Amino acid sequence: MVQGAINQNTKLTKDWLQNYVDDWVKFYWKHTKEGELASYIPHLMQADKSHLGISIMGINGVTIESGDVDIPFTIQSISKVFTFIVACMERGVSYVLDRVDVEPTGAAFNSIMHLEMKQIKKPFNPFVNAGAITVTSLLNGKTSDEKLEPIFELLENILGYCPSLNMDVFKSESETSIRNRAIGYYLVETGNLESELDLTLETYFKQCSIEISLKDLAHIGTILANDGKDPKTELEIIPKQVARLAKSLMLTCGMYDASGKFAAYVGIPAKSGVSGGIVAVAPPRARHEDLPFLEGCGIGVYGPALDKQGNSIAGIRLLRHIAKQWDLSIF
Ligand code: DON
Repeated sequence: MVQGAINQNTKLTKDWLQNYVDDWVKFYWKHTKEGELASYIPHLMQADKSHLGISIMGINGVTIESGDVDIPFTIQSISKVFTFIVACMERGVSYVLDRVDVEPTGAAFNSIMHLEMKQIKKPFNPFVNAGAITVTSLLNGKTSDEKLEPIFELLENILGYCPSLNMDVFKSESETSIRNRAIGYYLVETGNLESELDLTLETYFKQCSIEISLKDLAHIGTILANDGKDPKTELEIIPKQVARLAKSLMLTCGMYDASGKFAAYVGIPAKSGVSGGIVAVAPPRARHEDLPFLEGCGIGVYGPALDKQGNSIAGIRLLRHIAKQWDLSIF
């Protein structure tokens, strides 16, 4: 029997939390059968649809992991959070926001129609492809490696090691990127790109192919939950203003065209990617009850079977359950 809601008699020991999460990973695992792997990047079809895992890392240092936690995966759209953060750090927030808006679209992440129909001057937000490709074009550097260097530096500052690129995934996406090229050409025509199209797209596909683990994802979430500071060293890794802006965009635009529902029913900033990863951020919250992770935590979820919007189908259910039971909502 799975454990139910937390009541005042529950002892929130690490063992109790571990058993709780184990139970619910097993419970939600059945939903992996209802989703599909992302097929438009052929290499992602090699993932195992039945995988489901979660890693929760508290600002207080407590870590709970359960399910398939040892499968490395590429971050895909989760990278859009890092390029946005790095572009803001390199060019300044107002420079970036003059070139990409902060409005949710309610449309698919790779929609072109929206750009043309609304005759907008800048893409809607940095987490749809048009916005993300624009932000990638703002990164300093004359080669994709130069543009990506500060992203790797940021990740290394957080994780303590430098993640690698999955070149098979990069090649697979580069060879099949018709839609992103179409978006790119549109952005060239409208004058939105600041670096040449092929360089921008090469950088974009590479940033999507950075490979990390679930624990890494939770760790990144913890830094964002702590407004950009490493909770262990208290060193600032991301400026507070940029970390907060990234979180507000994650809340409003982070889960594609399911962002509104996720904000309403889960209530925490999150960003997903089509390889099945989700990074979620539960900032510290003032509650009177004794609840897990009141000091805040980062959560990484991995489940490559996706729903129609491109979010992990079982991962979203698991996250929603835990966020509800532990009252992680920011509202
Ligand atoms: O642009 C793409 O198709 C991917 N490399 C990233 C896609 C993804 O994870 C969903 N995009 N919001």
